[in-house]
Amino acid sequence: MQKHLVLLALVFVSSLLPAQNNNIIPQPVAFTYTRSLPFKLTAATTIGGNNAEAQRVARQLADQISRATGFKFTIRKQGAIQLTLNATPNAEIGDEGYTLSVTNTGVKINANKAAGLFYGAQTLLQLLPPEIESAEVVSAKWTIPACKITDYPRFGWRGMMLDVSRHFFSKEDVKRYIDRMARYKYNVFHWHLTDDEGWRIEIKSLPKLTQIGACRVPRYGKWGVHEAPKEGEAATDCGFYTQDEIREIVAYAAERHIQILPEIDVPGHSTAVVASYPELSCTQDPNIKVSPGYKFAEWYGNGQFKMLVDNTLDPSSEQVYSFLDKVFTEVAALFPFGYIHAGGDECYHGYWENDPDCKELMAKEGLKTTHELQSYFTKRVEKIIQSKGKKLMGWDEILEGGLAPEAAVMSWRGLEGGIEAAKLGHYVVMSPNDYVYIDLLQGEPAVEPDQTSYKTVRLQKAYSFEPVPEGIDPKFILGGQANLWTEKVPTIRQAEYMTYPRAWAIADLYWSQKEARNWDAFTQRMENHMERFDHAGANYARSAFDPIVTGSMVNGKLFANITTEVNGLDIYYTLDESIPDKYSRKYTGPVEIPDGKAVTLKVASFRNGQSSGKMVPLSRDEIVKRVKRIDP
Ligand code: ACM
Repeated sequence: MQKHLVLLALVFVSSLLPAQNNNIIPQPVAFTYTRSLPFKLTAATTIGGNNAEAQRVARQLADQISRATGFKFTIRKQGAIQLTLNATPNAEIGDEGYTLSVTNTGVKINANKAAGLFYGAQTLLQLLPPEIESAEVVSAKWTIPACKITDYPRFGWRGMMLDVSRHFFSKEDVKRYIDRMARYKYNVFHWHLTDDEGWRIEIKSLPKLTQIGACRVPRYGKWGVHEAPKEGEAATDCGFYTQDEIREIVAYAAERHIQILPEIDVPGHSTAVVASYPELSCTQDPNIKVSPGYKFAEWYGNGQFKMLVDNTLDPSSEQVYSFLDKVFTEVAALFPFGYIHAGGDECYHGYWENDPDCKELMAKEGLKTTHELQSYFTKRVEKIIQSKGKKLMGWDEILEGGLAPEAAVMSWRGLEGGIEAAKLGHYVVMSPNDYVYIDLLQGEPAVEPDQTSYKTVRLQKAYSFEPVPEGIDPKFILGGQANLWTEKVPTIRQAEYMTYPRAWAIADLYWSQKEARNWDAFTQRMENHMERFDHAGANYARSAFDPIVTGSMVNGKLFANITTEVNGLDIYYTLDESIPDKYSRKYTGPVEIPDGKAVTLKVASFRNGQSSGKMVPLSRDEIVKRVKRIDP
């Protein structure tokens, strides 16, 4: 009896402990190593699925394993690696969860639905050595440690957004992005398809959207300081997805249990529409051109701005609503997901304020402000979207002037929009820029590719995000996203650099249990995934290893304070222009920076004598600027 009690107590205690150290991202709910030899994967290993659906997932897993191992598998009903759809549902794991057990004799993955089997298969890949990510056959010790896992997500909406307007990404690039999302159990791909800099989706009934709206004059180099389109200049920088390509990508994502949320961003951010159909704006300027990323707005801080060109649709025009009906008819037919995102962010109202038809509509409808006018617009768009059998989602600006009756809100300017919407009983997806905007700087500006970003979101900041605000009914928080705007992201490799490792941290936020978060354990897992990406030929940032330098003044003397996000690194520095190495001065506390304009601090981090990040050079003047600043 007593023995049983002890055993029971042990089981209870172990269920409260964080999952044992492992390399899985996102962190599983329950993970334990078990007392068995590892499972050895060989060319003779068999892979099975208990029905056709399970066999489809087994085939995907086998194909993944084949690439690096060179082993060929035929999928059967019973295998040493066995995928089983439960005959009786396991209530603990829901639709996306799975159980996984590994012993020296076999691997068992069980789930209630195919999605769960797929996620179990992703975990299994992560239990194999990092070489498994190689696209070519490599030799490695193909063993899987004996363990037991029970796993299911905290949130049903685990999204990543990719902006394909500011820079266009090919169909193959988009698939590559989706592939990596799937590895980390993300399940919504938010496709930002339209913006001022390009309309990227074929709409057959509105051909000018892609004939004109998908092309801009070519510009190279820094975004935002480009020249405006010149008189008569040819718009030769083009890119859009045909409807066949969209269907192909939707199917590709669905095979990986990812739904696609299409975004058509209206009524602001619409230069590409207005360039194609000038009659849809208040000013109806026939000379407006798709933006090549030049300065066409003035920003005054606190989100206040003025558009120097009219990039907004006219909410008083019936033509606009017929246009949107055509667009959403075709969008709804292409994307099976229940939501369509209709944007609503950063809509400048200055041209509406001076437009006689807008003024007349406001008087007729009793709309007191242009926020209410935008709300009138969104409510009409919601009706259009609902008439196609879909639900509207919009950025948190759609709260201003009154939320459309059934709208869901994507909260980006902070958590406040999401809190307000949830209190009104609307569904919310959290993507506050302070935590999960992965276009923002992730490290020291002096050594990051983009030095002009308006904010920094370091990895540790992203990892600290809690999607459910205090006092809010969690049932209204569908989940969250990581959003990648691409003004400064011209290639898929740069997209990966911005996305990872922050999307690894964010995967933990949306899938794993809140209590499981542990920074040092996360950074250890991260390093294993960096190795995986090295084998895959994928890109990621090592900015979390780079020195973070701030300044302080003590008794009129300037000091540099240096740290790193990843713990346990050694920091070495110089003040004599030489490149720091492990024989330079080791950082042990604030470094006094001598007077003199010519003084430069050069600092780098090392582990076991090996360089682990970028060398950061900072002038004395720059350190002075950082006195009292928390983050550069
Ligand atoms: C946004 O970042 N403008 C939604």
